Amino acid sequence: MTAHKIPLALASAALTAGMSLATLAEPMPSTVATLVELGYPAPQEGELVHIPPTMADLEKADLHPETKEVIRRGYDLFTNTQQLRGENVFNEMNCSSCHLGEGRQPFSAPIWPAAVTLPSYRGKNDHVNNLEERIAGCFAYSMNGVPPEYGSDDMLALSAYHQWLAKGAPMYPDQPIYGRGFPAPERPEKLSYQRGEELYQAQCAICHSEDGSGLYQDGEYVFPAPWGDGSNNWGAGIVRTETAAGFIKNNMPLGQPLSLSDQQAWDIAYYMTRQERPQDPRYTGDVEETLEKFGPTFHKNSSYGQVREHDSHVLGDHANWGEKGDEVTPWNVGQSRFEDLKEK
Ligand code: HEC
Ligand code: HEC
Repeated sequence: MTAHKIPLALASAALTAGMSLATLAEPMPSTVATLVELGYPAPQEGELVHIPPTMADLEKADLHPETKEVIRRGYDLFTNTQQLRGENVFNEMNCSSCHLGEGRQPFSAPIWPAAVTLPSYRGKNDHVNNLEERIAGCFAYSMNGVPPEYGSDDMLALSAYHQWLAKGAPMYPDQPIYGRGFPAPERPEKLSYQRGEELYQAQCAICHSEDGSGLYQDGEYVFPAPWGDGSNNWGAGIVRTETAAGFIKNNMPLGQPLSLSDQQAWDIAYYMTRQERPQDPRYTGDVEETLEKFGPTFHKNSSYGQVREHDSHVLGDHANWGEKGDEVTPWNVGQSRFEDLKEK
């Protein structure tokens, strides 16, 4: 995210809202000292702290020029995933729309931990996943897409980028990882849809628009869509209220992380995750049935299948798959593995 990408009108509106262009354009904090200064927790004793290398470091690295080329390609796909629109991506996002700072930023689900903790068991699909399958998961749900095939050039490039960011970190670490995921503040006793709506309209709509559709100028990505057809689908991790609250608290409004109270972050998350978006690719044709299957594991933390208070709308009760349509199902959804091992 660079200042020149912000249209002038929005930039000046952002300025009146109390942000400086300098903050908006500032690179993501990359040292623990800066993070702590900004109000993020300091590493706990025994936590694994890893600051991923940058693309500038790559140029200096002792790697074959072709290896560097592939890592650069992975970086390019991660930060401009829209180049795969219509093929692998059927919404208006990039991987870096949620994984801020090019996937390097602590407390913004940095992506390198996947490279050192996988292959391992994942409850979401009930089998052991490798790095490619984890990447495929974000394509199927967060990008409302169809992942590139295992072993394809694009998959190789993306996994190379993840592994590059993990350079020097220990494999299968025993320690918990500092800044992993979108850690949520403690859930307040009561959440309010109405307060969330007011806060969203006051602090977020300026960039993400009043109706959550984001901002695209002449087809160009400026600000992503937190809900609606251009957003992630109902199977994406960020539809869980807790994950959304963690994302918002630590990362939004852009350039003002940690400025919202815990209650505010949760209220906005509650409001945001109770808006419509493309159908979960695991949908069986019936919300209740889908909820029965995935409620205990995944949707227990989302609003899927719930009745919205002000208009009695049942969330997720539709067959709108967004731009993807209902013709294609991602290949990695519902695929079982290691059946022979399970029998033993
Ligand atoms: C709509 C938001 C969103 C988008 C877009 C998105 N992701 Fe994610 N991603 C998440 C969330 C949420 C998690 C889970 C974080 C957690 O565990 O709390 C996650 C987790 C991951 C992880 C695992 C990190 C770990 O700690 O093990 C990887 C790897 C990953 N994403 C890669 C990608 C790639 C590659 C893309 C683009 C193809 C992408 N993501 C797009 C939201 C998103
Ligand atoms: C100054 C503009 C700006 C403001 C204000 C802002 N955001 Fe964002 N937001 C962004 C940008 C830009 C990204 C994507 C980061 C990137 O592409 O580098 C983003 C990403 C997101 C995402 C992940 C992608 C998606 O669309 O789902 C969510 C959720 C989000 N913001 C919610 C919020 C909320 C809630 C607020 C208000 C508390 C807010 N934002 C305020 C600019 C803004």
